[in-house]
Amino acid sequence: MLFNLNEFLMSVSFALDFVEMDVLGVPSNHGKRVAYIALKVGQYLGLSSKELHDIVSLAILHDNGVSEKNLYNNLMCKEEINLNEVEVAKKHCIIGEENIINYPFLTDVKNIIKYHHEKYDGSGFFKLKGDEIPIMAQIIQFANDMEMNNNFKSDKKEEIISFIKERENVSFSHKISRAFIEIARDEKFWININNESINNIIKKKHQVIA
Ligand SMILES: [Fe+2]
Ligand SMILES: [Fe+2]
Repeated sequence: MLFNLNEFLMSVSFALDFVEMDVLGVPSNHGKRVAYIALKVGQYLGLSSKELHDIVSLAILHDNGVSEKNLYNNLMCKEEINLNEVEVAKKHCIIGEENIINYPFLTDVKNIIKYHHEKYDGSGFFKLKGDEIPIMAQIIQFANDMEMNNNFKSDKKEEIISFIKERENVSFSHKISRAFIEIARDEKFWININNESINNIIKKKHQVIA
């Protein structure tokens, strides 16, 4: 039997989507939009094709820790789910990292999921600062922050750019925010990020290289 890892990952991403909608209250396709933004920023910053393959997988899986039974039950017991409270739950970073330890990545991706909420100024869970944070974790943190806090409509471009400028060197580096501003000049970005079938766009780019 031939096992297609990319197809499997996409199926997982749909399952994770439902958990995240349930627990975090994010709109559908959250993980896939994070993956698309991370892919575009990674490409712009010159990541290798193997690293790009891995960053897409990691971005899709970045919040897999919230699906852990105890954490999930805990969160679902609360009368009111506070998105920030959930997203800042350090535990989901640790559980998420442990869950993917045997996934067949193509590069060294140790601690990327663990550090996906680290902030550039050192105010994240693990107090890593600046380039102590692995670059892939920095990119996923940026993509997640962008996705959680912005409604990606092309008429909101200016709002989104000022959101980025406010957080530059606090939440993420100047290098990453500049990369995104360049990417956002391309109309295709806005069309793709709003495409309900964004999974097909990612699948096409997410080829197994090994
Ligand atoms: Fe998260
Ligand atoms: Fe997320």
